[in-house]
Amino acid sequence: MKNKRYLAFIGSSTGLAEMSIDLNVAAEEIVAAEQAIRKINSHRQLNFVMGLVDLRDITEPALRGFSAQIQQCRLHNIGCDWIGLVHSNDLDNDRLRQWIRSECVDFWLHPFQRLRDHLRQFLAQHSLAHSAAGTEDLRNSYVDLIGSSPGMHHMRQLIDRFSKVNSPILIIGETGSGKELIARNIYQASPRAKGKFMALNCGAMSPQLVQSELFGHEKGSFTGANHRKIGIIEAAQGGTLLLDEIGDLPLDAQVNFLRFLQEGKITRVGGTEEIAVDLRIVAATHVNLEQAVAHGRFREDLLYRLNVLKIDVPPLRERGSDVLVLADHILNHLKKTNHVTARGFDMDATHALLAHSWPGNVRELTNRIQRAAVMCDRALIAAYELGLNPQPSSSAAHLDEARDHAEAIAIEEALMSQGYNFSRAAKALGISRVTLYRLASKHASRLSSQAMREMPSAMPPSSDFMPLAGGRGNTRH
Ligand SMILES: Nc1ncnc2c1ncn2[C@@H]1O[C@H](COP(=O)(O)OP(=O)(O)OP(=O)(O)O)[C@@H](O)[C@H]1O
Ligand SMILES: [Mg+2]
Repeated sequence: MKNKRYLAFIGSSTGLAEMSIDLNVAAEEIVAAEQAIRKINSHRQLNFVMGLVDLRDITEPALRGFSAQIQQCRLHNIGCDWIGLVHSNDLDNDRLRQWIRSECVDFWLHPFQRLRDHLRQFLAQHSLAHSAAGTEDLRNSYVDLIGSSPGMHHMRQLIDRFSKVNSPILIIGETGSGKELIARNIYQASPRAKGKFMALNCGAMSPQLVQSELFGHEKGSFTGANHRKIGIIEAAQGGTLLLDEIGDLPLDAQVNFLRFLQEGKITRVGGTEEIAVDLRIVAATHVNLEQAVAHGRFREDLLYRLNVLKIDVPPLRERGSDVLVLADHILNHLKKTNHVTARGFDMDATHALLAHSWPGNVRELTNRIQRAAVMCDRALIAAYELGLNPQPSSSAAHLDEARDHAEAIAIEEALMSQGYNFSRAAKALGISRVTLYRLASKHASRLSSQAMREMPSAMPPSSDFMPLAGGRGNTRH
């Protein structure tokens, strides 16, 4: 089936069988990760929308194996979001909580009574995010960096300048602040734009496998190496490689990686041949690498080598009203699907967006808006739908704004409920048609584009109506 959505699964075969029975959602197929990789190798177009990873009663070695499997899935373009399945008491385990935070977008608790509901909600949000862009992931579909704060302006300048040179680039910023997006922008602006862009999360690999993932290995070089494997550095030949969470690279891999940066050559694990690789490296991290050096977790010589071209990504809370521009951009993107009723954010939501500290940065903003867009069936999204606390408006100057906002919401809602018929909406509001025209003109910037489109261009003649065009009539409130 062309649009069939696949779910990848990591866990035991019993877990897989249990999930398959529990889910039983039409048009979805759940397949084990290894089978998913085989399928995608033979048929690249398959649409893997999400992954379930069964973490119930998990052991540490199994957890490391799961990281490697997720990494393999990502390397094979099975770039779905992963959801951990856990018992509630599993969550007492610090290591597991940390693992879920780094690998998964969410977790669901056993006994999964609401598994089907959860899944439906997840898939509904997924199709909302994807329907305009086909199978494109919302997260990767923003080619441009949105925002006009001084911080963003500076970043654009750096991207422009750095993309022309071939040296490694280090991007530092909080989680969800846009490091990968910046790396992609650098790639797109660089002379290597026609080459590949590949990404590897150094934190998601088991320390035993990291060398082999980076540099590849020869057949028989260690137990289980049944065939030659090409590492990601070699695979990205000619292109750009993003090494995400570079601070998590184990020390022995750091030695070999530094050697590659200096000499432009790699040797596969267990091999002797030196292979020249021409590649642009972009490294990203959310940790302070100077501190990691001080604690002996990161090599100083590697930091010096990486630190030449550095981009510090400002957190969202330091980008002023960029948050509103981004919020509109995200909502507009969702609106293209036509499943979204909301046309904007109400005043409380606007204040709340500005006041929130955004620990998860733009990713958190995207997630909140996606959720709110699904829940909201009115014209304007409210603060509570974003899961944010409404901010009290402190000054009297806000009163006019509040009144205007309330008026605009009432008009939009009346128009919407009356199918954008102005006569019926005026009746529902208890005002004359001309007054409605006048108010709609006054609130043009707050109303949806549909409301403005549907407003008749030939206004009824009336002494009550003063056209706004040409700046003649807009003093009448
Ligand atoms: N300035 C921006 N304009 C538009 N979208 C953005 C911007 N910054 C981030 N995003 C979007 O926010 C999400 C998170 O960005 P990204 O994955 O690049 O962050 P990150 O810093 O790599 O996160 P992590 O530390 O978790 O790896 C993505 O969907 C990205 O497209
Ligand atoms: Mg990232």
